[in-house]
This record gives sequence, C-alpha cells and structure tokens, in this order.
Amino acid sequence: MTSDPAHPGTAHPGTAHPGTAHPGTVRSGSGPDGDTVLRLAVEQFTVHAESFGSSPVMNDAGELDALVELCALQPGDRVLDVACGPGIVSCRLAEAEPTVTVVGVDATPAMVTLAEARAAERRVGDRVTFRAGRMEQLPFADAGFDVVVSRYALHHAADPTAVAAELARVAGPAGRVVVFDFDAGEDPVAAQAYDAAERFRDPSHVRNLTAAEQRALFDAVGLRLDAACAHRLPADLDTVLSRSHGTDHGRVRSAFEASIGGHGLGVGAHRVGDGIAFAYPICGSRFVGPAGRPD
Ligand SMILES: C[S@@+](CC[C@H](N)C(=O)[O-])C[C@H]1O[C@@H](n2cnc3c(N)ncnc32)[C@H](O)[C@@H]1O
Repeated sequence: MTSDPAHPGTAHPGTAHPGTAHPGTVRSGSGPDGDTVLRLAVEQFTVHAESFGSSPVMNDAGELDALVELCALQPGDRVLDVACGPGIVSCRLAEAEPTVTVVGVDATPAMVTLAEARAAERRVGDRVTFRAGRMEQLPFADAGFDVVVSRYALHHAADPTAVAAELARVAGPAGRVVVFDFDAGEDPVAAQAYDAAERFRDPSHVRNLTAAEQRALFDAVGLRLDAACAHRLPADLDTVLSRSHGTDHGRVRSAFEASIGGHGLGVGAHRVGDGIAFAYPICGSRFVGPAGRPD
C-alpha cells in the first residue's frame, strides 16, 4: 500500500471532478461531491470490511462464475480489479486462470489489508497484489492491462464518466473492460426510491445506473459492447442490514416494507417468515477498445 486515498489532495491531488462536463456524462443529480462520497465510502467499508468479505451474497459462486466467463481470460493476461474490496473477484480470477497476474486497487486501506490476507490464504499471493488508489484517478500507466474489471463500484462514483474514462485508459485500445453493477431498471420512480433507501443503509451509495446508462458511459469513452449478462442476486434484508454501517436502518426497513407486493423499489421485496427477501438486479457488460479482439 503506497498512499492514503481517503485524504484527497495529499496523495492524489486533483481527484474527481464532479462538476466537470464530459460528453455522455451520466449525472449523479444533486448528490455530494466526489471527495465527500469517497470519505463516506472509506468510513463504510472500513467498518464493514470483514463482514463484506465473508458475505455469502458477495461470494455467490454463480455470479463469480458469470464474471469469470465474461472476462474470457487468456493465458498471461494482466488483470486490474478496480475498487477490489476484499479481493473476492481478484482471487477468483487468479484461481480461474493460473497464468494471469492480478492487481487490485481500492480506496479503503482496511479492504486492501483484507485482500492481501485473502490472496495469501488462497495461495495466489505470488500473482495477486493490491494497493490503495482511487478509481477516478488510477495509479497506473495507459494501456497497462489486458483486462480491467470492476464489480459493484460504479454506483459509488460521483462522476461515473470519469471512472469509465479511467478504466478505458488503463485497458488501452486492445484491452477489455468488464463491469458488473446493479441495474437501476427502467422504472425511474422505483430506482430513485431504491437509491434513497440505499443511502440510509450505505451513505456512500450515489446512484444505480440502468444497464443502458452503464453502456452509454463506456460508449462515450470509445469502447464497444462485446458481451453482456444479467441475473438476480438473492438477499435478505436482516442479513444485509447487519452488515451495514448506515445512518437509519429503520428508514430502509420502512421502504422495503412499503414496497412489498408492489414494485416500489424494483427489487421484488417479499416476506419470508418474519423477514424480507428480495433480489438485486445485476447486469454485466464486457467492452472492448477499438483494437480489441472479440471473444
Ligand atoms: C461494494 S464494494 C465492492 C468490492 C469488490 N469490487 C467486490 O465486488 O467484491 C465497493 C468498494 O469500492 C471501494 N470504493 C468506493 N469508492 C471508491 C473510489 N472512489 N475509488 C476506489 N475505491 C472505491 C470501497 O472501498 C469498496 O471496497
């Protein structure tokens, strides 16, 4: 670990530019600026690094298999995992193809520490390394990686266009970029209600994008959609809340309860016994640069 990205202006001056206009920009609305979002993310993911790493939902084997498939790793690929968290994806990719090397980068030092421990425990530490850094300003050279992957990070970006530009930059014209994130769905009212509830659970949540918005971001930075997948990731509210460092779990619960039997949050909330079950809609996309080979 080489720097502390939670203190922007020291290690990474310049950081995100939430007010900067980009062609194809997806706005996060009147949300907080990039530095505030980053501080909130580091707070959230420091407290819950361990529980995130051991979460069955985040370790869902089917989802990780789908992600491996979309990455279509080639022997010797250099892989970058952006906002890698506890290294679940980084280690899974290294296990899937024993000749690749993986670098994971994350803004939360506690996550980096956990990721290093996970790689050592899984005996892939010789090929998987981690460092601190911000996804809006990746500490890597242009075109340094064959595959750049990022799971569940875009919704934490105050300026997702800046993140897309960074992923494209480090992948270069021949690289692949694979992104997995929540799909906001086509009902904007439900999507806004979900975002509002989610911010009470995790104040560093900015906004879920629709699959089309995610693809437009990468199209705007010169990448072409090459393959895609979608699935629903089942979860239950009590478990999710027990692993969260939110400000008002009562508000989250009320929003989920109000949505039961309807489409209020777009996640199919329903009662199971005393609890509430639901399923995150997930979309995965693989993009290639202008010189990239299709799978
Ligand atoms: C929901 S977790 C996903 C972790 C991992 N990608 C996974 O899927 O297992 C989001 C991660 O993004 C990191 N993060 C949030 N904002 C970031 C930023 N601006 N730059 C780098 N990492 C960030 C957090 O520290 C956290 O580890």
